[in-house]
Amino acid sequence: MSVTDKIRNTQTEALGQIMATNSKSELEKIRVTYLGRKGKINELFNQLGSALPEERKSLGQQLNEVKNTVTRALENQLVQQPETSQEWFDITRPASLPAQGHLHLLTQAIEEITQIFEQVGFSRVRYREIESDWYAFEALNMPVDHPARDDFETFYVDLPKSKKGGRVVLTPHTSSGQVREMEALGKPPVRMVNIGKCYRPNYDISHTPMFHQFEGLVIDEGINITHLKGTCDYFARQYFGPKRVTRLRPFHFQFTEPSFEVDISCGVCGGQGCRVCKEGWVELGGAGMVHPQVLKAGKFDSEKYTGFAFGWGVERVAMMRAGLKLPDLRLFYSDDLRILNQF
Ligand code: PHE
Repeated sequence: MSVTDKIRNTQTEALGQIMATNSKSELEKIRVTYLGRKGKINELFNQLGSALPEERKSLGQQLNEVKNTVTRALENQLVQQPETSQEWFDITRPASLPAQGHLHLLTQAIEEITQIFEQVGFSRVRYREIESDWYAFEALNMPVDHPARDDFETFYVDLPKSKKGGRVVLTPHTSSGQVREMEALGKPPVRMVNIGKCYRPNYDISHTPMFHQFEGLVIDEGINITHLKGTCDYFARQYFGPKRVTRLRPFHFQFTEPSFEVDISCGVCGGQGCRVCKEGWVELGGAGMVHPQVLKAGKFDSEKYTGFAFGWGVERVAMMRAGLKLPDLRLFYSDDLRILNQF
């Protein structure tokens, strides 16, 4: 057999063996047999010395090609068969799971607020988003054309007026649930937390035309401002942390008397005053003692019963808690997962 034939045969034989196996260890054996220091290809190189001088060069080239071909074939076979059938594979290893979503941060906030108030005996309720003028304004001591209505810029719905209810509005606050709750229960005690959607035509860094409020209403015999203050402090501690306190600042609402804005001590400086809060306090929202006219609208005895109410923004408190992670209230309604994933 000529040297050229031996070279070809060696290649055919090697490639045949490589194709026939998918075992890593078998492939390693083949590598040693052909490409090893004492392997078949080196043996052929050694035999070149006995070849005719004029043939030596081309035989050397052929042999180098064979060496390269066999090397590549081995590599390919290893890549295609990374594991051999004999090799151990852990079938109990956890698979990679598809990405899982979570509740929207506002839904989370609403659930948390609900729990905080349910723990102290409030019942979660929900009233209408499309409401009549009567529940949204008149029953709250704001008759038609009263200037206080301007504080609650309102979307009107293009529907005919009703005799009792007047015009139809998208409710601008959850306070429209106050008289609805009194009617639903018929008598005290009332301990509701009404959480729902509200609408006002504003759009800027701290407003969206649709937003959420949570409204507390407590009516019974002997309810006074200390109950309101205690409830504010309780909420502040539960939602914002044990060190937070609130203060009541005199204000005006038509449906409460007296009325307050509730402030909460700043979480950054603890009430000392800093760049974030300036004076140590940040505003939470409105509150007050239920106005006798409102009790009357709900057919409650305003001589016998008193109550307190508050109405605060869900987005607002959630944003205050998230701090700089949410620099713009409109981000609540963005679909950017880089924001939503953080909560
Ligand atoms: N409804 C008021 C608002 O939207 C808040 C409020 C609720 C004030 C209850 C007093 C009592 O601003």
